[in-house]
Amino acid sequence: MNQRIVIPIADARTRRALPEGTAAVGNGEDRRGRRMRDLRISVTDRCNFRCTYCMPKEVFGSDYPFLPQAELLSFEEITRLSRIFHDLGVDKLRITGGEPLLRRHIERLIEMLAGIGTLDLTLTTNGSVLARKAKSLKAAGLQRITVSLDSLDDARFRAMNDADYPVARVLEGIDAAADAGLAPIKVNMVVKRGVNDDDILPMARHFRQAGHIVRFIEFMDVGSTNGWRMDDVVPSAEVVRRIHAELPLEPIGRSYNGEVAERWRYTDGSGEIGVISSVTQAFCGQCTRARLSTEGKLYTCLFADAGYDLRALLRNGVDDEQISAQLRAVWAERDDHYSEIRGAQTTVARKVEMSYIGG
Ligand code: GTP
Ligand code: 5AD
Ligand code: SF4
Ligand code: SF4
Repeated sequence: MNQRIVIPIADARTRRALPEGTAAVGNGEDRRGRRMRDLRISVTDRCNFRCTYCMPKEVFGSDYPFLPQAELLSFEEITRLSRIFHDLGVDKLRITGGEPLLRRHIERLIEMLAGIGTLDLTLTTNGSVLARKAKSLKAAGLQRITVSLDSLDDARFRAMNDADYPVARVLEGIDAAADAGLAPIKVNMVVKRGVNDDDILPMARHFRQAGHIVRFIEFMDVGSTNGWRMDDVVPSAEVVRRIHAELPLEPIGRSYNGEVAERWRYTDGSGEIGVISSVTQAFCGQCTRARLSTEGKLYTCLFADAGYDLRALLRNGVDDEQISAQLRAVWAERDDHYSEIRGAQTTVARKVEMSYIGG
């Protein structure tokens, strides 16, 4: 039976109505023929860094209204939803934030998610507390990890995280993750022209030696607060050119369908890098990602301005089957392809912030 579910109206600004009928939910593909494969789960909207491109201090100051505890999805709620997503074909879960390692007892959530079934279970962190958490994360069932790191130069790193956080501690965290067997380790570097593009080669060199995969990310216009300008973007083609001039590279294919990074390997066999070109070469055509915000809203695009309130379903006694039908209906309606039409946007809607929706 497909019952109409009534959701209480609150916070209408970022709430999108769930589809009315759930009968015609199609074959699991969205309107652009894409399936749902990955779920990115934001477990906190807080972070101990204030990266200028993500949570600028002027906006995320001491009076910023972060979500109160009662608003967050509980671990049980996250696990229940993840199981439903898994039954619908999602085989990859990524825990994000904010800074996910700041959520108390995160290992417990990892244990619960690892128990769902065969899944690629991973997490993106700023690495600040990784040195003391790596072992317990691995023991809980985390398989691999991605660490965000924008510079090896201490002064520059401190300026970019805007929390005066030393780079050495993140590097210790990466070493601890490697020792704990969280592999492969990926290192995400957001490249901003004139800010850290001088770090491209040092980063490539350093992590090639350490055996980790650096992914160079084009600075994106996520959210509405990071002052994005096209001039700040260093196109991936340029990143590859700059590395190739010193350390010859050759392209290799994607390791799975829908991978956001384009992979290149060093011709001497010493490893690989990735480039993520969301601005200059949009990859919406293969976008299999759904995002669950900290308070339980489902977003079908990183650049969405509103999400579907799944928490209301969970807390109003709706059963798994009905939730599943709702998810299928939402996915069937999905038509997002923001990065492909970025240049054609004439009005800028108020997009949600990356720290809230999860990178
Ligand atoms: P692997 O599973 O290791 O391949 O990583 P991933 O594809 O899940 O990548 P990760 O979470 O490390 O994402 C890297 C970065 O790519 C993110 O931080 C974003 O900047 C960008 N990115 C990831 N997914 C999307 C997406 O759906 N759209 C856009 N535009 N950018 C994305
Ligand atoms: N553009 C590109 N990447 C971003 N990230 C955060 N904000 C942006 C942005 N504006 C990245 C972080 C981290 C991941 C969660 O998202 O560096 O690796
Ligand atoms: Fe925190 Fe990551 Fe955003 Fe930096 S990019 S402020 S570390 S959530
Ligand atoms: Fe997917 Fe939206 Fe990113 Fe395109 S812009 S790849 S649809 S999340």
